[in-house]
Amino acid sequence: MGSIRIVPSLLSADFGRLAEEIRRAEDGGADDLHVDVMDGHFVPNLTIGLPVVAAMKKVARVPLDVHIMISNPLEFAARYIEAGAASLTFHAKATDEPGRVIDAITAAGGKVAMAINPATPIERVLPYLDRLAMVLVMSVVPGFGGQKFMPEVLPKLERLRATGFRGDLEIDGGIGPATIAAATAANANVFVAGSAVFGVANVRTRIGELRAAAELATAVRAPAR
Ligand code: DX5
Ligand code: ZN
Repeated sequence: MGSIRIVPSLLSADFGRLAEEIRRAEDGGADDLHVDVMDGHFVPNLTIGLPVVAAMKKVARVPLDVHIMISNPLEFAARYIEAGAASLTFHAKATDEPGRVIDAITAAGGKVAMAINPATPIERVLPYLDRLAMVLVMSVVPGFGGQKFMPEVLPKLERLRATGFRGDLEIDGGIGPATIAAATAANANVFVAGSAVFGVANVRTRIGELRAAAELATAVRAPAR
């Protein structure tokens, strides 16, 4: 299965100093950077869009893991790849045509991921697993950083891995030192963390702490099959 990756979410960064915040995360050991795009429609919050992703791409040294919480992923998918996203995650419940969104991302040269909300069953992504590099299991209702982790979503990770899916399993929402081990034990290997990373003075110490906890939990985890 995929290796452990710690992916700070820039949603909790200081937007007035994005370049410095990107450097702070990278110097602290971030494997990728998570970028939350919200449209004020699919989720009740509005964040950033294409021009900011393009500006981040100019500064970033690690890949941008762009998470689009928007109602019209088909219209925008290729444009986020062109703007600099290495991987693009769209929500299963945002479209009736996931296959076309997957094709658009793939044709633009990006890695494809689908996300499921806490209330969305894994059945929504199962038909597409062989075309996905990653599945994102939301562990909060998307829209805001700093929410409480929902452990009840963890069985979805177990079930996804039990299908034989060999791509990455990402978890997003409420991940920190107190929750990362449980997520790892349930088979997640890509960990988005916003407030837990940008909310502390020493990012390197925090990322190291998260990675150590995930590595320890991986070592004691029973094989998926
Ligand atoms: C929530 C976003 C998350 C958010 C996570 O809708 O998708 O990526 O930044 O923030 P924390 O880690 O603070 O829960
Ligand atoms: Zn996110």
